[in-house]
Amino acid sequence: MRQIWITKAGAPEVLTIKEAPDPDARAGELRIRVAASGVNFADILGRMGLYPDLPPMPVVVGYEVAGRVDAVGTGVNPGWVGRDVFAMTRFGGYADVVCVPEKQAFVRPEAMSAEQGAAIPVNYFTAWQLVVVMGGLKAGETMLVHSAGGGVGIAATQIAKHLGATVIGTASATKHAELRRLGVDHLIDYRTEDFETRTREIMAGRGVELVLDAVGGDSFKKGYRLLCPTGRLGMFGISSAATGKERSIVSVLRTVASMPWFQFTPVSLLNANKGVFGVNLGHLWREVERIRGWADKLLELWKEGVVRPRIARTFRFDEAAAAHHYIQDRKNIGKVLLVP
Ligand SMILES: NC(=O)c1ccc[n+]([C@@H]2O[C@H](COP(=O)([O-])OP(=O)(O)OC[C@H]3O[C@@H](n4cnc5c(N)ncnc54)[C@H](OP(=O)(O)O)[C@@H]3O)[C@@H](O)[C@H]2O)c1
Repeated sequence: MRQIWITKAGAPEVLTIKEAPDPDARAGELRIRVAASGVNFADILGRMGLYPDLPPMPVVVGYEVAGRVDAVGTGVNPGWVGRDVFAMTRFGGYADVVCVPEKQAFVRPEAMSAEQGAAIPVNYFTAWQLVVVMGGLKAGETMLVHSAGGGVGIAATQIAKHLGATVIGTASATKHAELRRLGVDHLIDYRTEDFETRTREIMAGRGVELVLDAVGGDSFKKGYRLLCPTGRLGMFGISSAATGKERSIVSVLRTVASMPWFQFTPVSLLNANKGVFGVNLGHLWREVERIRGWADKLLELWKEGVVRPRIARTFRFDEAAAAHHYIQDRKNIGKVLLVP
């Protein structure tokens, strides 16, 4: 098999392909011949040495794959062999063969391509948790989503529009026309406009019911201020800590220092009738049954045409560095994938 390794922290060029013998499926596992692997911002933070959960280097990152099962370990129904699946991997997804515990794999509907399948787990499970499970978004409410052109932003928009909510999105200006087409009602170019001021203008002074923010730092403070009474702020990342393509301690410290350490207190939340919550899909590995319930609902919505992953671009394994550059240059509208 071929795997893409991060041997040391640094720019995208540290990604290196290595060959290794195919792994055997152990008890309770399926072996998947991978046709597409998802690239996530967490992989980029890991490559830069900014991801606390990353196992020690050298490491193969990657949280999701799609492909076909070609072997099973003991205790697993042999009926899996030959089935098309998508699956969650806890690291190791940048590979053309992976083994995963059976409960982390999902049968792919016949009409769902491997690319579409690999684009579902991280983006859609995270969006479902943010919008539905913890955000409780309802018809008639308004959601502000940052990085609206990213995989999570597009997934959250599809779910929010299906629920009957209004969506305000922040994104680089070049993405606005396409994001409008994908359902975002109001777009803000946060690089030239203050998103807090613009959101207040759009809402005519009224706040929003839900904010989804993976930018972090000062952005969390602004999002909290933008909530109307009963509003909820979902915090799920700190992309503002990744300014260049290599780790900058100054950027990390600036992001950490500008976090709302003192804005949310039990008394201030109580008096403001506001809620704040955090989401980290990577810390839900003991809750796979819960996630499988979300997957069932998302697959129903896929059949209805609501869930439609938008693939920004696919890159071959030997172009993995270009895939990371593409995201960090803010070019992607939707999911970036690696194909062997
Ligand atoms: N907690 C969780 O479980 C979880 C799960 C999935 C994702 N996340 C987080 O959610 C965020 C979005 O993820 P995604 O997969 O949807 O993103 P993505 O598809 O990788 O999109 C990246 C986009 O984010 C925007 N961006 C904002 N700050 C950036 C920066 N410092 N460098 C480069 N791009 C930046 C850019 O778009 P614009 O220029 O248009 O803003 C860029 O195109 C990331 O921070 C990720 O870590 C968290």
